[in-house]
Amino acid sequence: MPTIRYVLIGLGNLGRRFCEIVQEKDADLRQRYDVDLRLVGAADSRGAAYDLQGLDLADVVRLKTSGESIAAYPAIGKTGWEAKALIEAAEADVMLEASPVNLPQHAEPGLSCIRTALEKGWHVITPNKGPLVVAYQELHALARSHGVKLRYDGTVAGGLPALNIGRRDLRGAIIHRIEAVPNLVTGYVVDMLSNGLTWDTALARARAEGVLESDAAWDLEGWDAAAKLTILANTVLDYPAQIEDVTRAGITGLAQEELVSACDRNFCYRLLARAERRADGGYNLSVAPVALGPDHPLGRLGSKQLGIVFHTDIYGTLTTIIEEPDPIPSAATMLRDLLDIYTED
Ligand SMILES: NC(=O)c1ccc[n+]([C@@H]2O[C@H](COP(=O)([O-])OP(=O)(O)OC[C@H]3O[C@@H](n4cnc5c(N)ncnc54)[C@H](OP(=O)(O)O)[C@@H]3O)[C@@H](O)[C@H]2O)c1
Repeated sequence: MPTIRYVLIGLGNLGRRFCEIVQEKDADLRQRYDVDLRLVGAADSRGAAYDLQGLDLADVVRLKTSGESIAAYPAIGKTGWEAKALIEAAEADVMLEASPVNLPQHAEPGLSCIRTALEKGWHVITPNKGPLVVAYQELHALARSHGVKLRYDGTVAGGLPALNIGRRDLRGAIIHRIEAVPNLVTGYVVDMLSNGLTWDTALARARAEGVLESDAAWDLEGWDAAAKLTILANTVLDYPAQIEDVTRAGITGLAQEELVSACDRNFCYRLLARAERRADGGYNLSVAPVALGPDHPLGRLGSKQLGIVFHTDIYGTLTTIIEEPDPIPSAATMLRDLLDIYTED
């Protein structure tokens, strides 16, 4: 049974839950896919730990659930050992990178970690949009030149396999239009406002549940949705868009009376990301709040649902929706990507 040695950068909502998923599914993964997944290194914002014989997932989960750093891992944890330095020093086959997005700034430490791992000839898996938005072409060229895979199915709509469907299952199609609700928190906030809660209360609740980024404007002003649309355009539409190409409006300009009135008429406002094919083969990209009626495929989305509609020439119109009440589906995308790289159909 092949052992897949992986390094995990970022042990927060997603990284820690990935450890829990693998811990729970270990026997099943061995039996069904003939793989032995071994965590050999891990890093968070305060330090790192490394052991080629493998870290104990239960110990990692215990440390992170209790708010400690991986630097406190018995015997091998080191405070101040940075993620990039860990990657440089480690021996492994694949890196999973789940650190903060850090856009619109520098997308670090994710970007440097991914570059370093690819240059070492490791496969890379990340649900982190930042590096893909900043350096999509460069990272793909780097992966190609080192003969390794770069997978990022968790970047666009949580656990919903938007990229996989778009690039794999719609092969051969021309996609005339994509309509997506890729950002969870804006729908959640809009629904709370529609139900009469004030902005302050709605934002406080979203923050307390950990679904609102610390930089609230990133979500509310549509940057997050624009970043996801940029990745979709590059990956699925083969259209080399930059985030600046997306016409963007967020939800902060919405009047609460309008939201309540729309709700009474059975309409629901969502921050809709759209790619519209032009006659020249390019795409117009936009993010804006739209009142979706009950006849729209995404018009009945629940508060914690995400969805995407692909309008194609030969596969008709395809709609996929996911309910994501916690980050487990998003964390599981890293397992999906890993198995995609290492197992045959
Ligand atoms: N949450 C979701 O539902 C979701 C869904 C899809 C995609 N994503 C993406 O997945 C990534 C991770 O999200 P998350 O919700 O797990 O974030 P999170 O809960 O904030 O966790 C971030 C992790 O990264 C670590 N970290 C921060 N700075 C670091 C550095 N300089 N070096 C190494 N590690 C560092 C943190 O360390 P400490 O533990 O020491 O704080 C923490 O363990 C983000 O890029 C996010 O956009 C998230």
